[in-house]
Amino acid sequence: MSNHFDLTGRVAVITGGARGIGLSAAERLADAGASIAIVDIDAEASQAAVKNIEQRGQKAIACSIDLTDEQAVIAMTDEVCAKLGSYDILVCAAGIVGQNAFAWETSVDEWRKVLDVNLTALWLCNREALRPMRKQNRGRIVNIASIAGKEGNPKLGPYSASKAGVIGMTKSLAKEVADTEIRINSIAPAVIQTPMLDQVSQETIDYMVSKIPVGRTGKTEEVAALVHYLASDECGFSTGACFDISGGRATY
Ligand SMILES: NC(=O)c1ccc[n+]([C@@H]2O[C@H](COP(=O)([O-])OP(=O)(O)OC[C@H]3O[C@@H](n4cnc5c(N)ncnc54)[C@H](O)[C@@H]3O)[C@@H](O)[C@H]2O)c1
Repeated sequence: MSNHFDLTGRVAVITGGARGIGLSAAERLADAGASIAIVDIDAEASQAAVKNIEQRGQKAIACSIDLTDEQAVIAMTDEVCAKLGSYDILVCAAGIVGQNAFAWETSVDEWRKVLDVNLTALWLCNREALRPMRKQNRGRIVNIASIAGKEGNPKLGPYSASKAGVIGMTKSLAKEVADTEIRINSIAPAVIQTPMLDQVSQETIDYMVSKIPVGRTGKTEEVAALVHYLASDECGFSTGACFDISGGRATY
């Protein structure tokens, strides 16, 4: 398949890039010509992802950090600029589901853990990426939210709240830099076939698929294709938007 959105010479940082949606996005952006930084807490899987990108003919580095660590995210941003020469694209795909539980079964610690990884760490990555991007007056950020953030999935309260937060934060931040060539958008996938589903009960997966008119789970490659467009220069007039990729589940 031909690759229409050229990213030759661009540097893309992919959080959660060691597997799932993040890995597919890394592969797709590399095939379009970008150098890749895989930023993921799983060091072993990150090294495998780096090898995979190198085999595709692109430069790649792994930054194995916990994204909830502010100093580590600051240092990672500096490392990307120093080792890869610039910082043009950020894709935030790292995330956790958390417990499948009713609110009355959920502890404050559990609530905070999910919000910390899915929302606070994502915001932190966005904030830090804007240091180099504002200097060069150009950049693209793609934040992976979820249909759960628009509709709310039962027994996934902290997750749904964190993803609604990602959608809102993206709208806000995009407006703060809309007078530059920086564009920031979010994506709201319905259920996509990835290792993350190992953390979700079959009951919840069945519920989510039953809500999808297309009648199946999505593929990571389908999400990566949308990420590719949003990471490209061609995405010039969309910012602060939330793009659905939900097999028809999203109706607004
Ligand atoms: N799979 C789905 O059905 C689905 C649907 C909608 C949205 N999403 C969102 O898409 C994104 C990617 O999902 P996926 O299914 O590919 O997940 P996944 O579990 O397959 O991959 C997530 C990656 O994030 C990394 N990660 C988690 N916490 C981290 C931390 N604190 N620091 C650094 N790395 C960390 C993990 O190591 C893992 O490699 C997530 O934000 C998820 O919420 C997924």
